[in-house]
Amino acid sequence: MGAGKSTIGAEVAKLLGRPFVDLDREIEARTGASVAQIFEERGESGFRALEAEVAAEELGHAALSVLALGGGAVETEAVRQALTDRAATVLLEVEPDAAWERSRGKKRPLARDEASFRSLYERRQPLYAQVAGGRARDADGVVLAAGGVVVEPGAFSRLAEVVEGPAELVSDARVLELHPPSLALQTPPHVLRSGEEAKTIETVARLWRELRLDRGGTLVALGGGCVTDAAGFAAATYLRGIDWVAVPTTLVGQVDAAIGGKTAVNLPEGKNLVGAFHWPASTVIDPELLATLPAEQRLEGMAEVVKTGLLAGEQLWELPDAELVRRSAAFKTALCLRDPYDRGLRQTLNLGHTFAHALEAGAEYETITHGRAVALGLLAALRLSGRPTDAVEETLAPEPARVDRERAWQALKRDKKSTGGELRVVLLGDEGGYAASAPEADVRRALGELIAD
Ligand SMILES: NC(=O)c1ccc[n+]([C@@H]2O[C@H](COP(=O)([O-])OP(=O)(O)OC[C@H]3O[C@@H](n4cnc5c(N)ncnc54)[C@H](O)[C@@H]3O)[C@@H](O)[C@H]2O)c1
Repeated sequence: MGAGKSTIGAEVAKLLGRPFVDLDREIEARTGASVAQIFEERGESGFRALEAEVAAEELGHAALSVLALGGGAVETEAVRQALTDRAATVLLEVEPDAAWERSRGKKRPLARDEASFRSLYERRQPLYAQVAGGRARDADGVVLAAGGVVVEPGAFSRLAEVVEGPAELVSDARVLELHPPSLALQTPPHVLRSGEEAKTIETVARLWRELRLDRGGTLVALGGGCVTDAAGFAAATYLRGIDWVAVPTTLVGQVDAAIGGKTAVNLPEGKNLVGAFHWPASTVIDPELLATLPAEQRLEGMAEVVKTGLLAGEQLWELPDAELVRRSAAFKTALCLRDPYDRGLRQTLNLGHTFAHALEAGAEYETITHGRAVALGLLAALRLSGRPTDAVEETLAPEPARVDRERAWQALKRDKKSTGGELRVVLLGDEGGYAASAPEADVRRALGELIAD
Protein backbone atom coordinates (compact mmCIF):
# COMPACT_ATOMS: atom_id res chain seq x y z
CA MET A 1 0.00 0.00 0.00
CA GLY A 2 1.33 3.44 -0.91
CA ALA A 3 4.32 2.06 -2.86
CA GLY A 4 3.23 3.78 -6.09
CA LYS A 5 2.07 0.67 -7.95
CA SER A 6 -0.57 2.49 -10.01
CA THR A 7 1.73 5.32 -11.16
CA ILE A 8 4.83 3.20 -11.72
CA GLY A 9 2.79 0.33 -13.19
CA ALA A 10 1.47 2.67 -15.89
CA GLU A 11 5.03 3.87 -16.64
CA VAL A 12 6.27 0.28 -16.91
CA ALA A 13 3.41 -0.61 -19.27
CA LYS A 14 4.44 2.29 -21.52
CA LEU A 15 8.10 1.22 -21.50
CA LEU A 16 7.13 -2.36 -22.37
CA GLY A 17 4.39 -1.42 -24.86
CA ARG A 18 1.78 -3.50 -23.02
CA PRO A 19 -1.72 -2.75 -21.70
CA PHE A 20 -1.89 -1.69 -18.05
CA VAL A 21 -4.41 -3.13 -15.61
CA ASP A 22 -4.80 -1.72 -12.11
CA LEU A 23 -6.57 -4.50 -10.24
CA ASP A 24 -8.40 -2.26 -7.73
CA ARG A 25 -9.70 0.00 -10.54
CA GLU A 26 -10.74 -3.08 -12.53
CA ILE A 27 -12.71 -4.42 -9.55
CA GLU A 28 -14.37 -1.04 -9.10
CA ALA A 29 -15.27 -0.84 -12.79
CA ARG A 30 -16.81 -4.31 -12.73
CA THR A 31 -18.82 -3.88 -9.54
CA GLY A 32 -19.65 -0.19 -9.88
CA ALA A 33 -18.58 0.23 -6.22
CA SER A 34 -15.42 1.66 -4.64
CA VAL A 35 -12.98 -0.64 -2.82
CA ALA A 36 -14.04 1.04 0.45
CA GLN A 37 -17.72 0.31 -0.29
CA ILE A 38 -16.98 -3.33 -1.14
CA PHE A 39 -15.10 -3.69 2.16
CA GLU A 40 -18.07 -2.21 3.98
CA GLU A 41 -20.66 -4.37 2.29
CA ARG A 42 -18.82 -7.71 1.99
CA GLY A 43 -16.05 -7.41 4.61
CA GLU A 44 -12.37 -8.06 3.88
CA SER A 45 -12.95 -11.73 3.08
CA GLY A 46 -15.63 -10.83 0.53
CA PHE A 47 -13.29 -8.34 -1.10
CA ARG A 48 -10.41 -10.86 -1.16
CA ALA A 49 -12.60 -13.47 -2.87
CA LEU A 50 -13.59 -10.98 -5.56
CA GLU A 51 -9.99 -9.82 -5.90
CA ALA A 52 -8.76 -13.41 -6.35
CA GLU A 53 -11.37 -14.03 -9.04
CA VAL A 54 -10.44 -10.93 -11.05
CA ALA A 55 -6.71 -11.52 -10.53
CA ALA A 56 -7.06 -15.12 -11.83
CA GLU A 57 -8.87 -13.85 -14.89
CA GLU A 58 -6.33 -11.10 -15.61
CA LEU A 59 -3.39 -13.45 -15.07
CA GLY A 60 -5.06 -16.07 -17.27
CA HIS A 61 -5.00 -14.00 -20.47
CA ALA A 62 -2.63 -15.21 -23.14
CA ALA A 63 -1.75 -11.62 -24.07
CA LEU A 64 0.92 -10.05 -21.89
CA SER A 65 0.06 -7.06 -19.74
CA VAL A 66 1.39 -5.13 -16.77
CA LEU A 67 -0.77 -5.75 -13.72
CA ALA A 68 -0.70 -3.63 -10.54
CA LEU A 69 -2.04 -5.76 -7.69
CA GLY A 70 -3.55 -4.38 -4.54
CA GLY A 71 -1.15 -4.62 -1.58
CA GLY A 72 -3.18 -7.35 0.11
CA ALA A 73 -3.78 -9.57 -2.91
CA VAL A 74 -0.84 -11.79 -1.89
CA GLU A 75 -2.70 -12.73 1.29
CA THR A 76 -4.77 -15.12 -0.84
CA GLU A 77 -3.07 -18.45 -1.55
CA ALA A 78 -4.70 -18.78 -5.01
CA VAL A 79 -3.31 -15.39 -6.05
CA ARG A 80 0.18 -16.32 -4.86
CA GLN A 81 -0.04 -19.53 -6.87
CA ALA A 82 -1.25 -17.72 -9.99
CA LEU A 83 1.62 -15.25 -9.68
CA THR A 84 4.13 -18.07 -9.39
CA ASP A 85 2.65 -19.88 -12.40
CA ARG A 86 1.82 -16.99 -14.70
CA ALA A 87 3.78 -13.82 -13.95
CA ALA A 88 7.14 -12.19 -13.52
CA THR A 89 6.44 -10.60 -10.15
CA VAL A 90 8.31 -7.54 -8.92
CA LEU A 91 7.92 -6.12 -5.43
CA LEU A 92 7.80 -2.34 -5.42
CA GLU A 93 9.61 -1.46 -2.21
CA VAL A 94 8.59 1.36 0.11
CA GLU A 95 9.57 2.22 3.69
CA PRO A 96 6.72 1.91 6.21
CA ASP A 97 6.92 5.65 7.11
CA ALA A 98 6.53 6.73 3.49
CA ALA A 99 3.79 4.16 2.87
CA TRP A 100 1.81 5.41 5.88
CA GLU A 101 2.21 9.08 4.88
CA ARG A 102 0.93 8.31 1.39
CA SER A 103 -1.93 6.07 2.49
CA ARG A 104 -3.41 7.83 5.55
CA GLY A 105 -6.62 9.75 5.16
CA LYS A 106 -7.19 8.35 1.65
CA LYS A 107 -10.29 6.30 2.40
CA ARG A 108 -8.24 3.12 2.28
CA PRO A 109 -10.04 0.61 4.48
CA LEU A 110 -6.81 -0.90 5.84
CA ALA A 111 -5.04 2.41 6.47
CA ARG A 112 -7.26 3.88 9.17
CA ASP A 113 -4.86 3.77 12.12
CA GLU A 114 -1.08 3.77 12.10
CA ALA A 115 -0.42 0.87 14.49
CA SER A 116 -2.50 -1.64 12.56
CA PHE A 117 -1.16 -0.29 9.24
CA ARG A 118 2.41 -0.97 10.43
CA SER A 119 1.63 -4.45 11.72
CA LEU A 120 -0.06 -5.26 8.41
CA TYR A 121 3.06 -4.03 6.60
CA GLU A 122 5.24 -6.36 8.70
CA ARG A 123 2.89 -9.31 8.31
CA ARG A 124 2.86 -9.06 4.52
CA GLN A 125 6.65 -8.86 4.03
CA PRO A 126 7.25 -12.64 4.02
CA LEU A 127 4.38 -13.10 1.56
CA TYR A 128 5.92 -10.55 -0.79
CA ALA A 129 9.30 -12.26 -0.42
CA GLN A 130 7.67 -15.58 -1.30
CA VAL A 131 6.19 -14.40 -4.63
CA ALA A 132 8.57 -11.66 -5.81
CA GLY A 133 11.27 -12.62 -8.30
CA GLY A 134 12.79 -9.15 -7.99
CA ARG A 135 12.52 -5.85 -6.15
CA ALA A 136 12.41 -2.28 -7.45
CA ARG A 137 11.73 1.31 -6.54
CA ASP A 138 11.00 2.89 -9.92
CA ALA A 139 9.86 2.00 -13.45
CA ASP A 140 13.39 1.27 -14.73
CA GLY A 141 13.90 -0.95 -11.70
CA VAL A 142 10.75 -2.93 -12.50
CA VAL A 143 11.83 -3.41 -16.13
CA LEU A 144 15.29 -4.58 -15.03
CA ALA A 145 13.83 -6.95 -12.43
CA ALA A 146 11.37 -8.36 -14.98
CA GLY A 147 14.34 -9.06 -17.27
CA GLY A 148 16.33 -10.69 -14.47
CA VAL A 149 18.87 -7.86 -14.51
CA VAL A 150 20.42 -6.51 -11.30
CA VAL A 151 22.32 -3.22 -11.55
CA GLU A 152 23.90 -2.21 -8.27
CA PRO A 153 27.28 -0.98 -7.07
CA GLY A 154 28.67 -3.84 -4.96
CA ALA A 155 26.48 -6.52 -6.60
CA PHE A 156 29.62 -8.47 -7.61
CA SER A 157 30.54 -9.16 -3.98
CA ARG A 158 27.07 -10.71 -3.50
CA LEU A 159 27.23 -12.90 -6.61
CA ALA A 160 26.95 -16.07 -4.52
CA GLU A 161 23.41 -15.02 -3.50
CA VAL A 162 22.32 -15.04 -7.15
CA VAL A 163 24.02 -18.20 -8.39
CA GLU A 164 22.13 -21.13 -6.96
CA GLY A 165 23.24 -24.77 -7.04
CA PRO A 166 26.19 -26.29 -8.92
CA ALA A 167 28.06 -23.74 -11.04
CA GLU A 168 31.07 -23.43 -13.32
CA LEU A 169 32.78 -20.19 -14.34
CA VAL A 170 33.99 -18.93 -17.73
CA SER A 171 36.21 -15.84 -17.86
CA ASP A 172 39.53 -14.53 -19.22
CA ALA A 173 42.89 -14.28 -17.44
CA ARG A 174 42.91 -10.48 -17.11
CA VAL A 175 39.44 -10.30 -15.58
CA LEU A 176 40.11 -13.19 -13.21
CA GLU A 177 43.25 -11.46 -12.00
CA LEU A 178 41.52 -8.09 -11.48
CA HIS A 179 38.18 -9.36 -10.17
CA PRO A 180 38.34 -12.88 -8.73
CA PRO A 181 34.77 -13.83 -7.83
CA SER A 182 33.88 -15.43 -4.51
CA LEU A 183 31.81 -18.36 -5.66
CA ALA A 184 31.70 -22.04 -4.82
CA LEU A 185 32.54 -23.76 -8.12
CA GLN A 186 32.37 -27.37 -9.32
CA THR A 187 35.64 -27.09 -11.27
CA PRO A 188 38.48 -24.57 -11.72
CA PRO A 189 37.45 -21.61 -13.96
CA HIS A 190 37.45 -22.11 -17.73
CA VAL A 191 39.84 -19.45 -19.00
CA LEU A 192 39.21 -18.12 -22.51
CA ARG A 193 41.57 -16.13 -24.69
CA SER A 194 41.06 -12.41 -24.51
CA GLY A 195 38.91 -10.53 -27.06
CA GLU A 196 37.47 -11.89 -30.31
CA GLU A 197 39.74 -14.95 -30.11
CA ALA A 198 37.30 -16.22 -27.45
CA LYS A 199 34.44 -16.15 -29.91
CA THR A 200 35.24 -19.25 -31.94
CA ILE A 201 33.45 -22.53 -32.38
CA GLU A 202 36.65 -24.26 -31.20
CA THR A 203 36.46 -22.41 -27.86
CA VAL A 204 32.84 -23.39 -27.45
CA ALA A 205 33.60 -27.01 -28.39
CA ARG A 206 36.30 -27.01 -25.72
CA LEU A 207 33.74 -25.78 -23.18
CA TRP A 208 31.20 -28.43 -24.25
CA ARG A 209 33.82 -31.09 -23.55
CA GLU A 210 35.17 -29.61 -20.30
CA LEU A 211 31.86 -28.86 -18.61
CA ARG A 212 30.78 -31.26 -15.87
CA LEU A 213 27.43 -29.65 -15.06
CA ASP A 214 24.17 -31.51 -15.50
CA ARG A 215 21.01 -29.79 -16.70
CA GLY A 216 20.36 -28.29 -13.29
CA GLY A 217 23.72 -26.48 -13.30
CA THR A 218 24.53 -22.86 -14.04
CA LEU A 219 27.29 -21.47 -16.21
CA VAL A 220 28.58 -18.11 -14.97
CA ALA A 221 30.19 -15.84 -17.59
CA LEU A 222 32.44 -13.14 -16.15
CA GLY A 223 34.01 -10.67 -18.57
CA GLY A 224 33.48 -8.43 -21.56
CA GLY A 225 31.13 -9.02 -24.48
CA CYS A 226 33.44 -11.62 -26.02
CA VAL A 227 33.34 -13.85 -22.92
CA THR A 228 29.57 -13.46 -22.39
CA ASP A 229 28.80 -14.05 -26.10
CA ALA A 230 30.88 -17.26 -26.25
CA ALA A 231 29.93 -18.63 -22.82
CA GLY A 232 26.27 -17.75 -23.42
CA PHE A 233 26.36 -19.74 -26.65
CA ALA A 234 27.97 -22.67 -24.85
CA ALA A 235 25.16 -22.49 -22.25
CA ALA A 236 22.53 -22.31 -25.02
CA THR A 237 23.79 -25.49 -26.64
CA TYR A 238 25.39 -27.69 -23.93
CA LEU A 239 22.90 -30.47 -23.01
CA ARG A 240 20.40 -28.59 -25.25
CA GLY A 241 20.59 -25.56 -23.00
CA ILE A 242 21.42 -24.88 -19.36
CA ASP A 243 20.96 -21.75 -17.25
CA TRP A 244 23.62 -19.07 -17.36
CA VAL A 245 24.38 -15.95 -15.38
CA ALA A 246 26.05 -13.05 -17.17
CA VAL A 247 28.40 -10.86 -15.16
CA PRO A 248 29.62 -8.17 -17.57
CA THR A 249 32.82 -6.34 -16.64
CA THR A 250 33.18 -3.85 -19.52
CA LEU A 251 30.99 -0.84 -20.28
CA VAL A 252 30.02 -2.46 -23.61
CA GLY A 253 28.97 -5.56 -21.69
CA GLN A 254 27.06 -3.70 -18.97
CA VAL A 255 24.99 -1.50 -21.29
CA ASP A 256 24.72 -3.77 -24.30
CA ALA A 257 26.31 -7.18 -24.86
CA ALA A 258 25.15 -9.01 -21.73
CA ILE A 259 21.54 -7.84 -22.08
CA GLY A 260 18.85 -9.31 -24.28
CA GLY A 261 19.88 -12.93 -24.72
CA LYS A 262 21.85 -12.78 -27.98
CA THR A 263 24.83 -15.13 -27.88
CA ALA A 264 27.24 -15.85 -30.73
CA VAL A 265 30.60 -16.90 -32.10
CA ASN A 266 32.36 -15.69 -35.24
CA LEU A 267 33.21 -17.56 -38.43
CA PRO A 268 36.09 -16.71 -40.78
CA GLU A 269 33.31 -15.44 -43.10
CA GLY A 270 32.05 -12.86 -40.63
CA LYS A 271 31.26 -11.87 -37.05
CA ASN A 272 28.39 -13.35 -35.01
CA LEU A 273 27.32 -15.70 -37.81
CA VAL A 274 26.51 -18.61 -35.47
CA GLY A 275 24.57 -18.17 -32.25
CA ALA A 276 21.34 -18.48 -30.35
CA PHE A 277 18.86 -16.45 -28.37
CA HIS A 278 19.32 -17.62 -24.78
CA TRP A 279 18.25 -15.13 -22.12
CA PRO A 280 20.44 -15.35 -18.98
CA ALA A 281 18.70 -16.55 -15.82
CA SER A 282 20.25 -13.45 -14.24
CA THR A 283 22.50 -10.63 -15.35
CA VAL A 284 24.51 -9.13 -12.51
CA ILE A 285 25.88 -5.69 -13.29
CA ASP A 286 28.24 -3.98 -10.86
CA PRO A 287 29.34 -0.58 -12.21
CA GLU A 288 32.21 -0.55 -9.70
CA LEU A 289 33.98 -3.20 -11.83
CA LEU A 290 34.48 -0.49 -14.48
CA ALA A 291 37.09 1.24 -12.27
CA THR A 292 39.83 -0.95 -13.75
CA LEU A 293 38.75 -0.50 -17.38
CA PRO A 294 41.33 1.19 -19.67
CA ALA A 295 40.19 4.54 -21.15
CA GLU A 296 39.99 3.28 -24.74
CA GLN A 297 37.82 0.37 -23.69
CA ARG A 298 35.55 2.76 -21.79
CA LEU A 299 35.18 4.91 -24.91
CA GLU A 300 34.00 1.82 -26.81
CA GLY A 301 31.13 1.54 -24.34
CA MET A 302 30.41 5.28 -24.36
CA ALA A 303 29.56 5.00 -28.07
CA GLU A 304 26.72 2.63 -27.11
CA VAL A 305 25.70 4.88 -24.19
CA VAL A 306 25.43 7.90 -26.52
CA LYS A 307 23.43 5.80 -28.99
CA THR A 308 21.10 4.68 -26.20
CA GLY A 309 20.70 8.25 -24.91
CA LEU A 310 19.83 9.50 -28.40
CA LEU A 311 17.22 6.76 -28.79
CA ALA A 312 15.80 7.41 -25.30
CA GLY A 313 15.81 11.18 -25.84
CA GLU A 314 17.89 11.73 -22.67
CA GLN A 315 21.47 12.83 -22.08
CA LEU A 316 22.42 9.57 -20.42
CA TRP A 317 26.11 10.12 -21.25
CA GLU A 318 26.24 12.99 -18.72
CA LEU A 319 25.18 10.87 -15.74
CA PRO A 320 27.60 9.37 -13.17
CA ASP A 321 28.62 5.78 -13.97
CA ALA A 322 26.16 3.95 -11.74
CA GLU A 323 23.15 5.85 -13.16
CA LEU A 324 24.42 5.87 -16.73
CA VAL A 325 24.78 2.10 -16.65
CA ARG A 326 21.44 1.55 -14.93
CA ARG A 327 19.44 3.77 -17.28
CA SER A 328 21.12 2.40 -20.41
CA ALA A 329 20.69 -1.19 -19.25
CA ALA A 330 17.01 -0.57 -18.48
CA PHE A 331 16.40 0.96 -21.91
CA LYS A 332 17.91 -2.03 -23.70
CA THR A 333 16.13 -4.51 -21.41
CA ALA A 334 12.76 -2.91 -22.18
CA LEU A 335 13.33 -3.06 -25.94
CA CYS A 336 14.49 -6.67 -25.76
CA LEU A 337 11.52 -7.71 -23.61
CA ARG A 338 9.28 -6.14 -26.25
CA ASP A 339 11.07 -7.85 -29.11
CA PRO A 340 13.06 -10.80 -27.72
CA TYR A 341 13.80 -12.37 -31.13
CA ASP A 342 14.84 -9.19 -32.92
CA ARG A 343 11.95 -9.11 -35.39
CA GLY A 344 11.22 -5.40 -35.40
CA LEU A 345 11.55 -2.77 -32.70
CA ARG A 346 14.88 -4.04 -31.40
CA GLN A 347 16.46 -3.21 -34.75
CA THR A 348 16.33 0.47 -33.79
CA LEU A 349 19.30 -0.37 -31.54
CA ASN A 350 21.26 -0.49 -34.80
CA LEU A 351 21.23 3.32 -35.03
CA GLY A 352 24.54 4.22 -36.69
CA HIS A 353 25.55 0.56 -37.01
CA THR A 354 24.95 0.20 -40.77
CA PHE A 355 27.65 2.82 -41.33
CA ALA A 356 29.82 1.39 -38.56
CA HIS A 357 29.83 -2.08 -40.13
CA ALA A 358 30.68 -0.57 -43.51
CA LEU A 359 33.65 1.33 -42.02
CA GLU A 360 34.87 -1.78 -40.20
CA ALA A 361 34.69 -3.74 -43.47
CA GLY A 362 36.45 -0.85 -45.28
CA ALA A 363 39.26 -1.16 -42.73
CA GLU A 364 39.26 -4.95 -43.09
CA TYR A 365 38.56 -5.05 -39.32
CA GLU A 366 42.11 -3.88 -38.64
CA THR A 367 42.51 -0.15 -38.14
CA ILE A 368 39.23 0.92 -36.57
CA THR A 369 37.57 -0.36 -33.41
CA HIS A 370 33.83 -1.08 -33.29
CA GLY A 371 33.22 1.80 -30.86
CA ARG A 372 35.04 4.34 -33.05
CA ALA A 373 33.09 3.08 -36.05
CA VAL A 374 29.80 3.39 -34.13
CA ALA A 375 30.68 6.97 -33.10
CA LEU A 376 31.19 7.87 -36.77
CA GLY A 377 28.10 5.91 -37.79
CA LEU A 378 26.02 7.92 -35.32
CA LEU A 379 27.21 11.14 -37.01
CA ALA A 380 25.98 9.84 -40.36
CA ALA A 381 22.63 8.64 -38.95
CA LEU A 382 22.04 12.00 -37.23
CA ARG A 383 22.94 13.98 -40.34
CA LEU A 384 20.56 11.88 -42.45
CA SER A 385 17.88 12.42 -39.80
CA GLY A 386 18.43 16.21 -39.91
CA ARG A 387 19.46 16.23 -36.23
CA PRO A 388 22.33 17.98 -34.38
CA THR A 389 25.53 15.98 -33.92
CA ASP A 390 27.06 17.88 -30.98
CA ALA A 391 26.43 15.12 -28.38
CA VAL A 392 28.47 12.67 -30.46
CA GLU A 393 31.17 15.22 -31.23
CA GLU A 394 31.57 16.41 -27.64
CA THR A 395 31.41 13.00 -25.94
CA LEU A 396 33.09 10.74 -28.47
CA ALA A 397 35.17 13.17 -30.61
CA PRO A 398 35.34 10.82 -33.62
CA GLU A 399 38.05 11.48 -36.20
CA PRO A 400 37.40 10.63 -39.87
CA ALA A 401 38.40 7.03 -40.55
CA ARG A 402 41.30 6.02 -42.77
CA VAL A 403 39.55 3.25 -44.64
CA ASP A 404 39.06 2.16 -48.23
CA ARG A 405 36.10 4.22 -49.52
CA GLU A 406 34.98 1.82 -52.23
CA ARG A 407 35.30 -1.28 -50.04
CA ALA A 408 33.22 0.41 -47.32
CA TRP A 409 30.51 1.40 -49.80
CA GLN A 410 30.36 -2.06 -51.36
CA ALA A 411 30.07 -3.60 -47.87
CA LEU A 412 27.19 -1.28 -46.98
CA LYS A 413 25.36 -2.13 -50.20
CA ARG A 414 25.85 -5.85 -49.59
CA ASP A 415 24.57 -5.47 -46.03
CA LYS A 416 21.46 -3.44 -46.98
CA LYS A 417 20.07 -4.51 -50.32
CA SER A 418 19.06 -1.54 -52.44
CA THR A 419 15.47 -1.43 -53.71
CA GLY A 420 14.49 1.19 -56.28
CA GLY A 421 17.63 3.23 -55.55
CA GLU A 422 16.82 3.36 -51.80
CA LEU A 423 18.48 1.72 -48.79
CA ARG A 424 16.98 0.85 -45.38
CA VAL A 425 18.68 2.62 -42.47
CA VAL A 426 17.74 3.44 -38.88
CA LEU A 427 17.01 7.15 -38.41
CA LEU A 428 16.19 9.21 -35.34
CA GLY A 429 12.85 10.98 -34.94
CA ASP A 430 11.08 12.78 -32.10
CA GLU A 431 9.76 9.46 -30.77
CA GLY A 432 13.11 7.62 -30.99
CA GLY A 433 14.60 5.37 -33.65
CA TYR A 434 12.77 4.04 -36.71
CA ALA A 435 13.70 2.11 -39.84
CA ALA A 436 13.34 4.15 -43.02
CA SER A 437 14.34 4.14 -46.67
CA ALA A 438 16.87 6.73 -47.76
CA PRO A 439 18.06 7.54 -51.30
CA GLU A 440 21.22 5.62 -52.15
CA ALA A 441 23.03 8.82 -53.12
CA ASP A 442 22.34 10.39 -49.69
CA VAL A 443 23.54 7.28 -47.84
CA ARG A 444 26.69 7.18 -49.97
CA ARG A 445 27.40 10.86 -49.29
CA ALA A 446 26.83 10.38 -45.53
CA LEU A 447 29.26 7.44 -45.52
CA GLY A 448 31.80 9.40 -47.56
CA GLU A 449 31.81 12.24 -45.03
CA LEU A 450 33.08 9.83 -42.36
CA ILE A 451 36.17 8.84 -44.34
CA ALA A 452 39.48 10.75 -44.33
CA ASP A 453 40.94 11.71 -47.73
N1 LIG B 1 25.32 -10.15 -27.61
C1 LIG B 1 25.10 -8.90 -27.88
O1 LIG B 1 23.94 -8.45 -27.92
C2 LIG B 1 26.27 -7.98 -28.13
C3 LIG B 1 26.07 -6.61 -28.15
C4 LIG B 1 27.19 -5.78 -28.31
C5 LIG B 1 28.44 -6.33 -28.46
N2 LIG B 1 28.59 -7.68 -28.45
C6 LIG B 1 29.91 -8.30 -28.63
O2 LIG B 1 30.77 -7.88 -27.57
C7 LIG B 1 32.11 -7.99 -28.00
C8 LIG B 1 32.89 -6.81 -27.50
O3 LIG B 1 32.85 -6.81 -26.10
P1 LIG B 1 33.76 -5.82 -25.22
O4 LIG B 1 33.81 -4.49 -25.86
O5 LIG B 1 33.25 -5.94 -23.83
O6 LIG B 1 35.23 -6.40 -25.40
P2 LIG B 1 35.97 -7.71 -24.85
O7 LIG B 1 35.03 -8.71 -24.35
O8 LIG B 1 36.90 -8.10 -25.93
O9 LIG B 1 36.82 -7.16 -23.61
C9 LIG B 1 37.86 -6.25 -23.89
C10 LIG B 1 39.04 -6.43 -22.98
O10 LIG B 1 38.77 -5.84 -21.71
C11 LIG B 1 39.31 -6.65 -20.66
N3 LIG B 1 38.46 -6.39 -19.50
C12 LIG B 1 37.19 -6.81 -19.29
N4 LIG B 1 36.72 -6.27 -18.15
C13 LIG B 1 37.69 -5.51 -17.63
C14 LIG B 1 37.78 -4.70 -16.48
N5 LIG B 1 36.73 -4.54 -15.65
N6 LIG B 1 38.93 -4.04 -16.24
C15 LIG B 1 39.99 -4.15 -17.11
N7 LIG B 1 39.95 -4.90 -18.22
C16 LIG B 1 38.82 -5.57 -18.48
C17 LIG B 1 39.20 -8.06 -21.21
O11 LIG B 1 40.15 -8.89 -20.61
C18 LIG B 1 39.46 -7.86 -22.69
O12 LIG B 1 40.83 -7.97 -22.97
C19 LIG B 1 32.07 -8.12 -29.51
O13 LIG B 1 32.44 -9.42 -29.89
C20 LIG B 1 30.62 -7.87 -29.88
O14 LIG B 1 30.20 -8.60 -31.01
C21 LIG B 1 27.53 -8.51 -28.28
